[in-house]
Amino acid sequence: MGKYIIEGGYSLSGEIKVQGSKNAVLPLLAATVLNEGKTYFHNCPKILDVYNMLNILTAIGCTIKWDKDVLIIDSSNITTHIIPEKYVQMMRSSIILLGSVLGRLKTVKISFPGGCSIGTRPIDLHLKALKQMNVDIKDRHGFIECSTNEIIGNKVSLDYPSVGATENIMLTAVLSEGITTINNAAKEPEIVELQEFLCKMGAKIEGAGTDTIIIKGVNKLNSVEYRIMPDRIVAGTYMCAVAAAGGEVLLKDVCKEHLNSTITKINEMGCFIKEFEDSILIKAPERLKSLDLIRTQPYPGFPTDMQAQLMSCLVTADGTSIIAETIFESRYKHVAELVRMGADIIIDGRIAVLKGVNRLNGAEVFAEDLRGGAALVLAGLGAEGKTIVNNASHILRGYENLEKDLSLLGANIKYSSD
Ligand code: EPU
Repeated sequence: MGKYIIEGGYSLSGEIKVQGSKNAVLPLLAATVLNEGKTYFHNCPKILDVYNMLNILTAIGCTIKWDKDVLIIDSSNITTHIIPEKYVQMMRSSIILLGSVLGRLKTVKISFPGGCSIGTRPIDLHLKALKQMNVDIKDRHGFIECSTNEIIGNKVSLDYPSVGATENIMLTAVLSEGITTINNAAKEPEIVELQEFLCKMGAKIEGAGTDTIIIKGVNKLNSVEYRIMPDRIVAGTYMCAVAAAGGEVLLKDVCKEHLNSTITKINEMGCFIKEFEDSILIKAPERLKSLDLIRTQPYPGFPTDMQAQLMSCLVTADGTSIIAETIFESRYKHVAELVRMGADIIIDGRIAVLKGVNRLNGAEVFAEDLRGGAALVLAGLGAEGKTIVNNASHILRGYENLEKDLSLLGANIKYSSD
Protein backbone atom coordinates (compact mmCIF):
# COMPACT_ATOMS: atom_id res chain seq x y z
CA MET A 1 0.00 0.00 0.00
CA GLY A 2 3.05 2.33 0.33
CA LYS A 3 3.74 5.13 2.77
CA TYR A 4 5.06 8.66 2.98
CA ILE A 5 7.66 9.43 5.65
CA ILE A 6 7.83 13.11 6.53
CA GLU A 7 10.14 15.00 8.86
CA GLY A 8 8.16 18.12 9.74
CA GLY A 9 9.33 21.67 10.22
CA TYR A 10 10.82 22.55 6.83
CA SER A 11 9.23 25.56 5.16
CA LEU A 12 8.61 25.51 1.39
CA SER A 13 10.12 27.76 -1.27
CA GLY A 14 10.57 27.73 -5.04
CA GLU A 15 8.25 26.97 -7.95
CA ILE A 16 6.45 23.91 -9.31
CA LYS A 17 4.10 23.08 -12.18
CA VAL A 18 0.64 21.76 -11.43
CA GLN A 19 -0.36 18.47 -13.12
CA GLY A 20 -3.31 17.88 -15.46
CA SER A 21 -6.71 17.40 -13.86
CA LYS A 22 -7.84 13.96 -12.65
CA ASN A 23 -11.53 14.75 -12.57
CA ALA A 24 -11.36 16.31 -16.03
CA VAL A 25 -9.38 13.54 -17.71
CA LEU A 26 -11.48 10.60 -16.43
CA PRO A 27 -14.69 11.59 -18.28
CA LEU A 28 -12.59 12.56 -21.32
CA LEU A 29 -11.02 9.09 -21.38
CA ALA A 30 -14.51 7.61 -21.18
CA ALA A 31 -15.63 9.94 -23.99
CA THR A 32 -13.00 8.54 -26.37
CA VAL A 33 -15.24 5.45 -26.66
CA LEU A 34 -17.76 7.57 -28.59
CA ASN A 35 -15.19 8.34 -31.27
CA GLU A 36 -14.45 5.63 -33.84
CA GLY A 37 -10.94 6.97 -34.31
CA LYS A 38 -7.90 8.22 -32.44
CA THR A 39 -7.57 10.69 -29.58
CA TYR A 40 -4.31 12.39 -28.64
CA PHE A 41 -4.05 13.75 -25.09
CA HIS A 42 -1.43 16.18 -23.81
CA ASN A 43 -0.87 16.93 -20.12
CA CYS A 44 -2.54 13.68 -19.02
CA PRO A 45 -1.66 13.06 -15.35
CA LYS A 46 0.17 9.77 -14.71
CA ILE A 47 -1.87 8.66 -11.71
CA LEU A 48 -3.44 5.38 -10.62
CA ASP A 49 -6.99 6.36 -11.57
CA VAL A 50 -5.86 7.14 -15.13
CA TYR A 51 -4.00 3.81 -15.40
CA ASN A 52 -7.08 2.03 -14.10
CA MET A 53 -9.31 3.74 -16.67
CA LEU A 54 -6.81 2.85 -19.42
CA ASN A 55 -6.97 -0.81 -18.28
CA ILE A 56 -10.75 -0.72 -18.69
CA LEU A 57 -10.51 0.89 -22.13
CA THR A 58 -8.01 -1.82 -23.17
CA ALA A 59 -10.32 -4.54 -21.82
CA ILE A 60 -13.22 -3.31 -23.98
CA GLY A 61 -11.12 -3.13 -27.16
CA CYS A 62 -9.28 0.21 -27.30
CA THR A 63 -5.58 0.38 -28.12
CA ILE A 64 -3.49 2.56 -25.82
CA LYS A 65 -0.06 3.99 -26.63
CA TRP A 66 2.18 6.57 -25.00
CA ASP A 67 4.39 8.55 -27.38
CA LYS A 68 6.65 10.22 -24.81
CA ASP A 69 4.11 12.30 -22.88
CA VAL A 70 1.33 12.09 -25.45
CA LEU A 71 -1.36 9.53 -24.69
CA ILE A 72 -2.91 8.05 -27.85
CA ILE A 73 -6.17 6.10 -27.66
CA ASP A 74 -7.51 4.27 -30.67
CA SER A 75 -11.16 3.38 -30.12
CA SER A 76 -11.94 2.16 -33.65
CA ASN A 77 -12.88 -1.26 -32.30
CA ILE A 78 -14.98 -1.65 -29.18
CA THR A 79 -15.30 -5.40 -28.70
CA THR A 80 -17.59 -5.72 -25.67
CA HIS A 81 -20.28 -3.84 -23.80
CA ILE A 82 -19.31 -5.45 -20.47
CA ILE A 83 -17.15 -3.37 -18.14
CA PRO A 84 -14.96 -5.78 -16.14
CA GLU A 85 -16.16 -5.85 -12.55
CA LYS A 86 -12.72 -5.88 -10.92
CA TYR A 87 -11.91 -2.42 -12.29
CA VAL A 88 -15.29 -0.95 -11.35
CA GLN A 89 -14.72 -2.09 -7.78
CA MET A 90 -11.25 -0.51 -7.82
CA MET A 91 -12.43 2.81 -9.17
CA ARG A 92 -15.89 4.17 -8.50
CA SER A 93 -15.63 6.81 -11.20
CA SER A 94 -15.63 4.08 -13.89
CA ILE A 95 -19.43 4.57 -13.72
CA ILE A 96 -18.79 7.33 -16.26
CA LEU A 97 -18.42 4.58 -18.90
CA LEU A 98 -22.14 3.93 -18.55
CA GLY A 99 -22.95 6.88 -20.81
CA SER A 100 -20.15 6.50 -23.34
CA VAL A 101 -20.37 2.74 -23.94
CA LEU A 102 -24.18 3.01 -24.12
CA GLY A 103 -23.83 5.90 -26.58
CA ARG A 104 -21.47 3.90 -28.80
CA LEU A 105 -22.99 0.39 -28.63
CA LYS A 106 -26.57 1.10 -27.42
CA THR A 107 -25.97 -1.40 -24.66
CA VAL A 108 -23.77 -1.60 -21.57
CA LYS A 109 -23.38 -3.85 -18.53
CA ILE A 110 -21.55 -2.58 -15.47
CA SER A 111 -21.51 -3.67 -11.84
CA PHE A 112 -23.00 -1.34 -9.24
CA PRO A 113 -20.07 0.76 -8.04
CA GLY A 114 -21.42 0.83 -4.48
CA GLY A 115 -20.34 3.20 -1.73
CA CYS A 116 -16.83 4.18 -0.76
CA SER A 117 -15.03 5.63 2.24
CA ILE A 118 -16.53 9.10 1.74
CA GLY A 119 -20.20 8.08 1.47
CA THR A 120 -22.87 5.76 0.03
CA ARG A 121 -22.72 7.49 -3.38
CA PRO A 122 -25.91 6.32 -5.10
CA ILE A 123 -26.37 6.64 -8.90
CA ASP A 124 -30.16 7.05 -8.91
CA LEU A 125 -29.94 10.42 -10.71
CA HIS A 126 -27.88 8.91 -13.55
CA LEU A 127 -30.33 6.05 -14.06
CA LYS A 128 -33.48 8.18 -13.79
CA ALA A 129 -32.18 10.46 -16.55
CA LEU A 130 -31.22 7.59 -18.86
CA LYS A 131 -34.71 6.09 -18.49
CA GLN A 132 -36.11 9.40 -19.73
CA MET A 133 -33.92 9.04 -22.83
CA ASN A 134 -35.54 5.77 -23.98
CA VAL A 135 -33.03 3.52 -22.26
CA ASP A 136 -34.24 0.30 -20.70
CA ILE A 137 -32.51 -0.41 -17.38
CA LYS A 138 -32.34 -3.71 -15.57
CA ASP A 139 -30.77 -3.85 -12.16
CA ARG A 140 -30.05 -7.43 -11.11
CA HIS A 141 -27.50 -9.41 -9.10
CA GLY A 142 -25.42 -6.28 -8.47
CA PHE A 143 -25.20 -5.34 -12.15
CA ILE A 144 -26.86 -2.61 -14.19
CA GLU A 145 -27.76 -3.53 -17.75
CA CYS A 146 -28.82 -0.72 -20.06
CA SER A 147 -30.03 -1.15 -23.62
CA THR A 148 -31.98 0.74 -26.26
CA ASN A 149 -32.80 0.68 -29.97
CA GLU A 150 -32.24 4.39 -30.11
CA ILE A 151 -31.28 6.98 -27.52
CA ILE A 152 -33.84 9.76 -27.79
CA GLY A 153 -33.14 13.26 -26.48
CA ASN A 154 -35.42 14.59 -23.74
CA LYS A 155 -35.73 17.30 -21.09
CA VAL A 156 -34.03 16.06 -17.95
CA SER A 157 -34.18 17.85 -14.63
CA LEU A 158 -31.69 16.79 -11.98
CA ASP A 159 -32.88 16.88 -8.36
CA TYR A 160 -29.29 17.75 -7.41
CA PRO A 161 -26.48 19.10 -9.67
CA SER A 162 -24.50 15.85 -9.62
CA VAL A 163 -21.19 16.04 -11.49
CA GLY A 164 -21.21 12.36 -12.51
CA ALA A 165 -24.89 12.36 -13.56
CA THR A 166 -24.39 15.51 -15.68
CA GLU A 167 -21.37 13.90 -17.38
CA ASN A 168 -23.15 10.60 -18.00
CA ILE A 169 -26.18 12.35 -19.53
CA MET A 170 -23.93 14.44 -21.80
CA LEU A 171 -22.05 11.32 -22.94
CA THR A 172 -25.28 9.40 -23.55
CA ALA A 173 -26.85 12.27 -25.52
CA VAL A 174 -23.95 13.06 -27.90
CA LEU A 175 -24.88 10.40 -30.50
CA SER A 176 -28.62 10.42 -29.76
CA GLU A 177 -31.63 11.29 -31.86
CA GLY A 178 -32.98 14.78 -31.04
CA ILE A 179 -32.15 17.30 -28.37
CA THR A 180 -31.42 16.74 -24.68
CA THR A 181 -31.72 19.56 -22.17
CA ILE A 182 -30.23 19.12 -18.70
CA ASN A 183 -31.74 21.44 -16.10
CA ASN A 184 -30.00 21.97 -12.76
CA ALA A 185 -26.80 20.64 -14.33
CA ALA A 186 -23.51 20.65 -12.40
CA LYS A 187 -21.44 23.75 -13.20
CA GLU A 188 -17.97 22.43 -12.32
CA PRO A 189 -15.05 23.37 -14.64
CA GLU A 190 -14.73 19.65 -15.47
CA ILE A 191 -18.17 19.82 -17.12
CA VAL A 192 -17.03 22.75 -19.27
CA GLU A 193 -13.91 20.76 -20.17
CA LEU A 194 -16.06 17.79 -21.23
CA GLN A 195 -18.21 20.06 -23.42
CA GLU A 196 -15.10 21.59 -25.05
CA PHE A 197 -13.58 18.19 -25.69
CA LEU A 198 -16.78 16.69 -27.13
CA CYS A 199 -17.40 19.76 -29.32
CA LYS A 200 -13.83 19.50 -30.65
CA MET A 201 -14.74 15.91 -31.64
CA GLY A 202 -17.79 17.22 -33.51
CA ALA A 203 -20.54 17.10 -30.86
CA LYS A 204 -23.09 19.92 -30.58
CA ILE A 205 -23.32 21.05 -26.96
CA GLU A 206 -23.80 24.42 -25.31
CA GLY A 207 -24.43 25.77 -21.84
CA ALA A 208 -21.78 23.93 -19.77
CA GLY A 209 -20.81 26.11 -16.81
CA THR A 210 -24.44 27.27 -16.44
CA ASP A 211 -27.29 25.25 -14.96
CA THR A 212 -28.79 24.41 -18.37
CA ILE A 213 -26.90 22.29 -20.89
CA ILE A 214 -28.31 21.57 -24.36
CA ILE A 215 -27.02 18.66 -26.43
CA LYS A 216 -28.09 18.18 -30.06
CA GLY A 217 -27.43 14.61 -31.14
CA VAL A 218 -25.02 14.04 -34.05
CA ASN A 219 -24.27 10.90 -36.10
CA LYS A 220 -20.53 10.62 -35.83
CA LEU A 221 -17.49 12.13 -34.12
CA ASN A 222 -13.95 12.69 -35.39
CA SER A 223 -10.38 12.22 -34.16
CA VAL A 224 -9.09 14.91 -31.87
CA GLU A 225 -5.97 16.26 -30.14
CA TYR A 226 -6.54 17.83 -26.72
CA ARG A 227 -4.62 19.32 -23.77
CA ILE A 228 -6.05 18.49 -20.34
CA MET A 229 -6.66 21.50 -18.09
CA PRO A 230 -4.68 21.98 -14.85
CA ASP A 231 -5.92 20.22 -11.71
CA ARG A 232 -7.63 22.79 -9.46
CA ILE A 233 -7.61 20.46 -6.45
CA VAL A 234 -3.89 19.68 -6.75
CA ALA A 235 -3.23 23.44 -7.03
CA GLY A 236 -5.36 24.00 -3.91
CA THR A 237 -3.56 21.17 -2.10
CA TYR A 238 -0.17 22.77 -2.82
CA MET A 239 -1.49 26.14 -1.63
CA CYS A 240 -2.54 24.47 1.62
CA ALA A 241 0.89 22.79 1.83
CA VAL A 242 2.50 26.24 1.88
CA ALA A 243 -0.05 27.48 4.42
CA ALA A 244 0.60 24.46 6.70
CA ALA A 245 4.41 24.31 6.36
CA GLY A 246 5.16 28.02 5.90
CA GLY A 247 7.19 29.61 3.10
CA GLU A 248 6.63 31.16 -0.31
CA VAL A 249 5.92 29.25 -3.54
CA LEU A 250 4.99 30.01 -7.14
CA LEU A 251 2.52 27.52 -8.61
CA LYS A 252 2.77 27.38 -12.38
CA ASP A 253 0.21 26.15 -14.93
CA VAL A 254 -2.88 26.90 -12.87
CA CYS A 255 -6.26 28.19 -13.96
CA LYS A 256 -6.92 30.83 -11.31
CA GLU A 257 -10.59 31.28 -12.32
CA HIS A 258 -11.23 27.70 -11.13
CA LEU A 259 -9.71 28.48 -7.74
CA ASN A 260 -11.70 31.52 -6.60
CA SER A 261 -13.40 29.98 -3.56
CA THR A 262 -10.20 28.20 -2.47
CA ILE A 263 -8.07 31.33 -2.89
CA THR A 264 -10.61 33.34 -0.88
CA LYS A 265 -10.39 30.96 2.09
CA ILE A 266 -6.60 30.66 1.99
CA ASN A 267 -6.41 34.45 1.81
CA GLU A 268 -8.77 34.79 4.80
CA MET A 269 -6.41 32.52 6.77
CA GLY A 270 -3.80 35.27 6.38
CA CYS A 271 -1.79 34.02 3.38
CA PHE A 272 -0.57 36.57 0.85
CA ILE A 273 -1.65 35.59 -2.67
CA LYS A 274 -0.72 37.19 -5.97
CA GLU A 275 -2.39 36.00 -9.15
CA PHE A 276 -0.64 36.09 -12.53
CA GLU A 277 -1.95 34.98 -15.93
CA ASP A 278 -1.42 31.25 -15.37
CA SER A 279 0.44 31.10 -12.08
CA ILE A 280 -0.19 31.96 -8.43
CA LEU A 281 2.28 33.12 -5.78
CA ILE A 282 1.44 32.15 -2.21
CA LYS A 283 3.21 33.27 0.96
CA ALA A 284 2.30 31.96 4.41
CA PRO A 285 2.01 34.24 7.45
CA GLU A 286 3.78 33.64 10.81
CA ARG A 287 0.57 32.04 12.09
CA LEU A 288 -2.67 31.24 10.25
CA LYS A 289 -5.98 32.79 11.29
CA SER A 290 -9.05 30.68 12.00
CA LEU A 291 -12.13 30.84 9.72
CA ASP A 292 -15.65 31.29 11.08
CA LEU A 293 -17.54 28.84 8.86
CA ILE A 294 -16.58 26.94 5.75
CA ARG A 295 -19.41 25.17 3.99
CA THR A 296 -18.58 22.75 1.15
CA GLN A 297 -20.83 23.35 -1.83
CA PRO A 298 -21.18 22.53 -5.52
CA TYR A 299 -19.07 24.78 -7.78
CA PRO A 300 -18.54 27.73 -7.58
CA GLY A 301 -18.80 27.17 -3.80
CA PHE A 302 -15.93 25.83 -1.69
CA PRO A 303 -15.11 22.30 -2.99
CA THR A 304 -15.58 19.22 -0.85
CA ASP A 305 -12.34 17.96 -2.45
CA MET A 306 -10.47 20.72 -0.56
CA GLN A 307 -12.16 20.27 2.83
CA ALA A 308 -9.59 17.89 4.34
CA GLN A 309 -6.56 19.89 3.15
CA LEU A 310 -8.01 23.14 4.53
CA MET A 311 -8.66 21.36 7.81
CA SER A 312 -4.98 20.39 8.03
CA CYS A 313 -4.15 24.11 7.96
CA LEU A 314 -6.88 25.24 10.35
CA VAL A 315 -5.95 22.79 13.12
CA THR A 316 -2.96 25.01 13.98
CA ALA A 317 -4.63 28.37 13.20
CA ASP A 318 -5.15 30.99 15.87
CA GLY A 319 -8.74 30.50 17.11
CA THR A 320 -11.71 28.23 16.46
CA SER A 321 -12.94 27.27 12.96
CA ILE A 322 -16.10 25.47 11.90
CA ILE A 323 -16.47 23.28 8.81
CA ALA A 324 -19.79 22.00 7.42
CA GLU A 325 -19.40 19.13 4.92
CA THR A 326 -22.63 19.27 2.91
CA ILE A 327 -21.73 17.08 -0.12
CA PHE A 328 -20.61 13.69 1.24
CA GLU A 329 -21.97 12.24 4.46
CA SER A 330 -18.79 10.62 5.78
CA ARG A 331 -15.90 12.66 4.51
CA TYR A 332 -14.23 13.10 7.90
CA LYS A 333 -12.07 9.94 8.02
CA HIS A 334 -8.92 12.09 8.32
CA VAL A 335 -10.18 13.67 11.56
CA ALA A 336 -9.26 10.79 13.89
CA GLU A 337 -5.76 10.76 12.37
CA LEU A 338 -5.33 14.52 12.83
CA VAL A 339 -6.46 14.13 16.44
CA ARG A 340 -3.78 11.44 16.85
CA MET A 341 -1.31 14.16 15.79
CA GLY A 342 -2.57 16.48 18.53
CA ALA A 343 -5.37 18.37 16.73
CA ASP A 344 -8.39 19.46 18.77
CA ILE A 345 -11.44 18.57 16.63
CA ILE A 346 -15.00 17.65 17.56
CA ILE A 347 -17.35 16.16 14.98
CA ASP A 348 -21.13 16.35 15.24
CA GLY A 349 -22.71 14.84 12.15
CA ARG A 350 -21.63 16.98 9.23
CA ILE A 351 -20.12 19.72 11.41
CA ALA A 352 -16.49 19.82 12.55
CA VAL A 353 -15.36 22.25 15.24
CA LEU A 354 -11.59 22.87 15.24
CA LYS A 355 -9.79 24.63 18.08
CA GLY A 356 -6.37 25.68 16.80
CA VAL A 357 -3.38 24.24 18.70
CA ASN A 358 0.14 25.69 18.51
CA ARG A 359 1.67 22.76 16.68
CA LEU A 360 0.89 19.17 15.67
CA ASN A 361 3.13 16.28 16.70
CA GLY A 362 4.35 13.79 14.12
CA ALA A 363 2.69 10.34 14.39
CA GLU A 364 1.99 7.19 12.40
CA VAL A 365 -1.35 7.72 10.63
CA PHE A 366 -3.49 6.00 7.98
CA ALA A 367 -4.96 7.46 4.80
CA GLU A 368 -8.54 6.27 4.23
CA ASP A 369 -9.22 8.18 1.02
CA LEU A 370 -7.48 10.33 -1.58
CA ARG A 371 -7.98 13.89 -0.30
CA GLY A 372 -7.96 12.92 3.38
CA GLY A 373 -4.64 11.16 2.74
CA ALA A 374 -3.16 14.26 1.06
CA ALA A 375 -4.35 16.29 4.06
CA LEU A 376 -2.37 14.03 6.42
CA VAL A 377 0.78 14.64 4.36
CA LEU A 378 0.22 18.39 4.71
CA ALA A 379 -0.29 18.01 8.45
CA GLY A 380 3.02 16.11 8.60
CA LEU A 381 4.86 18.96 6.84
CA GLY A 382 3.96 21.40 9.62
CA ALA A 383 4.21 18.94 12.53
CA GLU A 384 7.06 18.52 14.96
CA GLY A 385 9.06 15.33 14.30
CA LYS A 386 8.32 12.35 12.08
CA THR A 387 4.96 11.52 10.49
CA ILE A 388 4.30 8.30 8.59
CA VAL A 389 1.26 8.33 6.32
CA ASN A 390 0.32 4.71 5.55
CA ASN A 391 -1.98 3.51 2.73
CA ALA A 392 -0.32 5.93 0.32
CA SER A 393 -1.92 4.18 -2.66
CA HIS A 394 -5.05 6.25 -1.96
CA ILE A 395 -2.98 9.37 -2.60
CA LEU A 396 -1.33 7.97 -5.75
CA ARG A 397 -4.83 7.71 -7.25
CA GLY A 398 -4.83 11.46 -7.81
CA TYR A 399 -1.39 13.01 -7.19
CA GLU A 400 1.29 12.44 -9.81
CA ASN A 401 4.38 13.78 -8.06
CA LEU A 402 3.44 14.62 -4.49
CA GLU A 403 6.73 13.77 -2.79
CA LYS A 404 8.89 14.91 -5.73
CA ASP A 405 7.12 18.28 -5.90
CA LEU A 406 7.23 18.83 -2.15
CA SER A 407 10.91 17.72 -1.96
CA LEU A 408 11.75 20.18 -4.74
CA LEU A 409 10.24 22.90 -2.57
CA GLY A 410 12.40 21.90 0.40
CA ALA A 411 10.16 19.49 2.34
CA ASN A 412 11.74 16.45 3.96
CA ILE A 413 9.48 13.72 2.54
CA LYS A 414 10.16 10.25 1.17
CA TYR A 415 7.94 7.63 -0.42
CA SER A 416 8.39 3.97 0.43
CA SER A 417 6.51 1.22 -1.41
CA ASP A 418 6.69 -1.11 1.65
N1 EPU B 1 -25.62 11.76 -5.56
C1 EPU B 1 -26.82 11.11 -5.42
N2 EPU B 1 -27.32 10.43 -6.50
C2 EPU B 1 -26.67 10.37 -7.69
C3 EPU B 1 -25.44 11.05 -7.83
C4 EPU B 1 -24.93 11.73 -6.74
O1 EPU B 1 -27.44 11.12 -4.35
O2 EPU B 1 -27.19 9.73 -8.62
C5 EPU B 1 -25.05 12.47 -4.41
C6 EPU B 1 -23.73 11.82 -3.94
O3 EPU B 1 -23.96 10.72 -3.10
C7 EPU B 1 -23.04 12.97 -3.25
C8 EPU B 1 -23.49 14.19 -4.07
O4 EPU B 1 -24.66 13.77 -4.78
O5 EPU B 1 -23.51 13.08 -1.93
C9 EPU B 1 -22.45 14.68 -5.04
O6 EPU B 1 -22.10 13.67 -5.97
P1 EPU B 1 -21.62 13.97 -7.46
O7 EPU B 1 -22.35 13.03 -8.36
O8 EPU B 1 -21.67 15.43 -7.74
O9 EPU B 1 -20.09 13.54 -7.37
P2 EPU B 1 -19.32 12.47 -8.25
O10 EPU B 1 -19.56 12.71 -9.69
O11 EPU B 1 -19.55 11.11 -7.73
C10 EPU B 1 -17.22 14.02 -8.52
C11 EPU B 1 -15.74 13.91 -8.27
C12 EPU B 1 -15.48 13.90 -6.77
C13 EPU B 1 -16.04 15.19 -6.18
C14 EPU B 1 -17.53 15.31 -6.50
C15 EPU B 1 -18.14 16.62 -6.02
C16 EPU B 1 -14.92 12.68 -10.17
C17 EPU B 1 -14.31 11.44 -10.71
N3 EPU B 1 -15.23 12.68 -8.89
O12 EPU B 1 -17.81 12.88 -7.91
O13 EPU B 1 -14.06 13.86 -6.62
O14 EPU B 1 -15.86 15.17 -4.78
O15 EPU B 1 -17.72 15.24 -7.93
O16 EPU B 1 -17.45 17.70 -6.53
O17 EPU B 1 -15.07 13.66 -10.90
C18 EPU B 1 -12.02 13.34 -5.58
O18 EPU B 1 -11.44 13.78 -6.59
O19 EPU B 1 -11.40 13.07 -4.53
C19 EPU B 1 -13.47 13.16 -5.61
C20 EPU B 1 -14.13 12.43 -4.72
